[in-house]
Amino acid sequence: MTDAHVVILPGDGIGPEVLESAILVLQKAAQMGSIDLRLEHGWIGGSALDLCGEPIFPETLQACKEAHAVLLGAVGGPKWENNPGHLRPEAGLLQLRKEMGVYANLRPVVARPALAPFTPYRPEILQGVDLLMVRELTGGIYFGEKGRDPDSAFDVCRYHRHEIERIARVAGRLAQQRRKKLCSIDKANVMETSRLWRQVVTEVMEREFPDVQLEHVLVDAAAMYLTLKPAQFDVLLTENMFGDILSDQASTLAGSLGLLPSASLGEQLGLYEPIHGSAPDIAGRGIANPIGTILSVAMMLRLSLHQPDLADAVERAVEKVLATGPLTPDLERYHPSHTRELTTRVCSALGAE
Ligand code: IPM
Ligand code: MG
Repeated sequence: MTDAHVVILPGDGIGPEVLESAILVLQKAAQMGSIDLRLEHGWIGGSALDLCGEPIFPETLQACKEAHAVLLGAVGGPKWENNPGHLRPEAGLLQLRKEMGVYANLRPVVARPALAPFTPYRPEILQGVDLLMVRELTGGIYFGEKGRDPDSAFDVCRYHRHEIERIARVAGRLAQQRRKKLCSIDKANVMETSRLWRQVVTEVMEREFPDVQLEHVLVDAAAMYLTLKPAQFDVLLTENMFGDILSDQASTLAGSLGLLPSASLGEQLGLYEPIHGSAPDIAGRGIANPIGTILSVAMMLRLSLHQPDLADAVERAVEKVLATGPLTPDLERYHPSHTRELTTRVCSALGAE
């Protein structure tokens, strides 16, 4: 039996609902793979603020650094919207990412033919869309010095060479395992950080990944091409904030933000979360789409728990359910399914593997 210690961070809004689903799938997979699963709950976001006045419990942070993997729902909500920056729910997530050292955020986006009618795109635009966003996650403007006085405010964007080198290596390795195409996105016509980014990415790729075809695209143009010709992209490499924005945009290709998983990796630790937010408007109604979180479990099985076969099995189970429907109301307009019902169907498809 392999031992797996996973910290569960439900967070706010729909976070607890999608995590409930993901845990059921993880438990089912663990049973199938004879994994001795130890789940430990922790507190982050608004729910942590309400309980202890801090956006993440210190004990939770410590547990996350000691676990094999961390699975997170979502953080944030209107209740804490007017809190000062360091006491917002998001501050807990940023601190967690930084302290876990998970600098490489992987966000795969696939367009499934069966879901094309739920997207705003023509089917031919979506044909062959299978891309991977590699977002730098612990640097840039998210973590630079910030300041505010009554009439002005600033956020500093700084990147160090070593931060760009290590994320470029992750993207290079992933491109080698895929279609060997890397598109690095920046704003080098305006920003100094982007000019350093472009230079360092070029150096790393020429030196260490000569077999990968590299192109540089400005972020504004990249946003347009993601809509006009999304199938041309394989791996997209980008800094923290551009990656945040473009990954939500790219999710429209899949059909719903609720479908997209992510893995955030460092040298050892792994943090897994859907890319969507806490969706306070639908929280507590049992209609949140759990697929992004379930697919994050698959990424966890593959990348942190070293169970590639189980990861494939979870992904196949999800594909079966997505192909047959009915799905949650973010996709399905008439006679939608509920979170729990959809989860039961994924679990039985997984059991039938
Ligand atoms: C994401 C989210 C977070 C981010 C928020 C909740 C801080 O939007 O993971 O994409 O901006 O990174
Ligand atoms: Mg985001």
